[in-house]
Amino acid sequence: MEKDVYILAIESSCDETAAAVMKNGREVCSNVIYSQIELHKLYGGVVPEIASRKHIEKINYVIEEALEKANKKLADIDAIAVTYGPGLVGALLVGVAEAKAIAYAANKPLVGVHHIEGHIAANYIENLDLEPPFLCLVVSGGHTHLVKVEDYDRFEILGKTRDDAAGEAFDKVARAIGLGYPGGPKIDALAKEGDKNAIAFPRAKVDDNPYDFSFSGLKSAVLNYLNQCEMKQVEINRADVAASFQYAVIDVLTTHAIVAAKELGIEKLAVAGGVASNSSLRESLQEACEKEGIQFYHPSPIYCTDNAAMIGVAGYYSYINGVSHGLDLNAVPNLKIGQRM
Ligand code: KG4
Ligand code: ZN
Repeated sequence: MEKDVYILAIESSCDETAAAVMKNGREVCSNVIYSQIELHKLYGGVVPEIASRKHIEKINYVIEEALEKANKKLADIDAIAVTYGPGLVGALLVGVAEAKAIAYAANKPLVGVHHIEGHIAANYIENLDLEPPFLCLVVSGGHTHLVKVEDYDRFEILGKTRDDAAGEAFDKVARAIGLGYPGGPKIDALAKEGDKNAIAFPRAKVDDNPYDFSFSGLKSAVLNYLNQCEMKQVEINRADVAASFQYAVIDVLTTHAIVAAKELGIEKLAVAGGVASNSSLRESLQEACEKEGIQFYHPSPIYCTDNAAMIGVAGYYSYINGVSHGLDLNAVPNLKIGQRM
C-alpha cells in the first residue's frame, strides 16, 4: 500500500490567516481560518499594513491549531505549501517567511502555490469525481477569470475582467447603498428581499473578446441611479437595487461561462472564489448547466472564500508532480495564472 501524503498549507494573501492539513490531496484533516474582517470593517475595506501585522500576530497559533486538529506533528508532514502570489505583498510575505522557516527547521520540501490556482483546486475537495479538463469561472475580490483547466498544473485564460473584479463591484455597490464591508454576503442577503427586474442595469459587452468582462460601467450605472433618485427626492428601495445589480452581474457571468463551455465543447463547469458562495450565482449556473447538459461543480461556501485547504490541494498536485521551491522563494504580488517562479 502506498504511503499517505500529508501537506501543511498556509494562506495569508489578503485578510484571512489560514492553515490546513490535507491528506492525499483532497481529504481535509483540518482547516483553520482566522478572519480579520471585523478589524477591517472599521475602515470599509482591507488596510494592507493592518492585515500584515495581524497575520504576524496570528499565524503561529493558526498553524499550531491546524496541526493539533489534524492530530499531526510536523514530523508527519510531507511538504509545506504556501500561497506566494498574487495578493498584498506584506500579507503574502508573512506566510512565505513562515513556510520557509518551517521547511528549513523541519527539513521538509517547500511548495509555492498560486492563490487563484488554489481557489480553482477548492473544487476537488468535495467533488471526488472532478478531474481536468474543465472550465472554471473564477470570481473573487481581486479576480474575474474564465479559465480552461487543462490539467492540474496547466491553465489557459479564456477571458478576464478589463476593470473591476466581480467581488470588487459587489463591495463598491454595497458601500454605496450603505451596507458596509464586505459587501458580497450583504448584497446576497438583501437581494432576496428585492425584485431583480426592478431596475434595468446595463450588461457590458467587450468588443474584441466575447469572454472578457467589464464591471465598472455597471458600478457607475448604480451610482448614477442612486444620485438621480436623491436629486428627484425619490425613495431608494435598497433591496431592489441590490437584487437588480446582482442580477446584472450574474447574468453576464453565467452567459459568458455557458457560451465558452458550448463553443469549446467542454462538458464540465466549475466556479471558484469568494463570489462563488453567492447563492443566486450558484442557482443561475446550476440551472443554465442543466439546460445545456453541462455538469456543474462548486465548493461549499467555506472553501470559496480564502482558506488554506484549497492551497493544500493545489500544493499536493504540484508536490506529486515534482514541484518544489528553494528557500529563496519570494512573495509575488502580481503572479499570473500558470506562471511558475
Ligand atoms: O476569494 P476571496 O475570499 O478573496 C479574494 O481572493 O479576493 O473573495 C472575497 C470577495 C469579496 O469581494 C466579497 O464581497 C465576495 O468575495 N463575496 C461575495 C459573497 N461572499 C463573499 N460576493 C457575492 N456574494 C457572496 N455571498
Ligand atoms: Zn481569494
